[in-house]
Amino acid sequence: MSAGFEFVVVSNRLPVDQVVSESGGQSWARSPGGLVAALEPVMQEQDGAWVGWPGIAGTQLEPFDVDGMHLVPIPLSKSEVAEYYEGFSNDTLWPLYHDVIAAPSFHREWWETYRRVNHKFAEAVAEVASKTATVWVHDYQLQLVPKLLRDLRPDLTIGFFDHIPFPPYGLFSQLPWRVQIIEGLLGADVVGFQRDADSGNFAQAVRKLKGFPSKGGQIEVPIEDPNPGVRVFEPVRYLGQSRKVIARKFPISIDAGAYRELASRPDVQARARQIRGDLGNPKHIILGVDRLDYTKGIRHRLRAYGELLAEGKVDPEDTILVQVASPSRERVQSYVELRNEVELTVGRINGDYSAIGHQAISYHHHNYPREEMVALYLAADVLLVTALRDGMNLVAKEYVASRFDNDGVLVLSEFAGASDELKRALQVNPHDIDGLKQSILRALQMPRTERASRMRSMRRHVFENDVRRWSGDFIAELDQIRAERGNAIGD
Ligand code: F6P
Repeated sequence: MSAGFEFVVVSNRLPVDQVVSESGGQSWARSPGGLVAALEPVMQEQDGAWVGWPGIAGTQLEPFDVDGMHLVPIPLSKSEVAEYYEGFSNDTLWPLYHDVIAAPSFHREWWETYRRVNHKFAEAVAEVASKTATVWVHDYQLQLVPKLLRDLRPDLTIGFFDHIPFPPYGLFSQLPWRVQIIEGLLGADVVGFQRDADSGNFAQAVRKLKGFPSKGGQIEVPIEDPNPGVRVFEPVRYLGQSRKVIARKFPISIDAGAYRELASRPDVQARARQIRGDLGNPKHIILGVDRLDYTKGIRHRLRAYGELLAEGKVDPEDTILVQVASPSRERVQSYVELRNEVELTVGRINGDYSAIGHQAISYHHHNYPREEMVALYLAADVLLVTALRDGMNLVAKEYVASRFDNDGVLVLSEFAGASDELKRALQVNPHDIDGLKQSILRALQMPRTERASRMRSMRRHVFENDVRRWSGDFIAELDQIRAERGNAIGD
């Protein structure tokens, strides 16, 4: 073990992905998704290390520093990417944890690779963490790491945060490896979730599969005999002692101040005006911003919008839907199908309702820098978040944080974690297409005073509960456990 780092974050992806151009040149691009957006500011302020995959199969890289962060790359081979990342993480766990919106695939070979790659991550963390360090493990790709790490390094204090929903037992119990996953997570001292519903589902799975009861967000986990000797075929023997595991919600957030600052910049505001101008200065701009993922309800949104156009309730002469769909998991079949379907539908709607000089839908299959996103948020009269299931949805919080003018209307799915907090959004059930249509119309017609009062109250919440509060609360919980353990060892 080296001298190492006192604080280590571990997630499937590093905050930057390696990009190799056709000419063989190498550069770094910010990784997609809410996890990186939330953790980047935390890590820029901490003197720690971030362990993760650099985003390309087969690359071996030495640790390096970027934007004030020390990054430790974990290489993954082509078959590991196919079976651990695209397979088990994104074609088994992802659909299972998101209400089986797509059917999960169960393959024993994928599970074996998931196990092996989780070992690889745990071993790398055990190498870089200093004695009694704090390690914060993130997300569904690494659910076995807490236990593996505890076995390798019992001196560590370990946290785990689940960025995506934790499914109800009726769905979770379909997983052939459900017990191993629960045991993996229980290796942590603190297991954090986005919503009360998620921590409740986890507590129920722990009760049903392991028989450990929970009370007030605390689970007593009996300590197993590490030396079973010849009793290999007997049930696990407990030593009569237990460790406590805290399992509760810690709703994730954003660096709200950074969004306010960007939104107040004259060049970003000028860009927002330019966007409106380039779109033909329509009366209404409706915006959707999502990873191109079937959980985001993009098809439902397009159906509702297409019907409003067909019924003449929305006039394509004065209203436009701007849809940013950032590329995601493009080698997983369900994502390939989704892209085809979304782009076919956008093409049809545009074919039916666009005119020369203005489009019904302006569709962008790109990632944009943060400045451009904030300009889009400022230009948009309505943000549509229609997720069928979403751990949190940070785009909703980014929109609110950017609207320093207290304007704009947020239409928010009740199936996104953000709906627990942003109560003054227009909350919708995206499966109810008529209800969604009514909410879109209500958003377009909402008087200025009502828009301002709703936005003001949501902004208060987002600024009081920003990403520093989220990480601060989580790390404080870990510190407390570490201190208790320190006392116990020191006695
Ligand atoms: O929280 C959901 C999540 O899977 C994160 O772990 C990840 O950063 C983001 O979505 C983007 O997904 P991917 O890394 O598969 O592109």
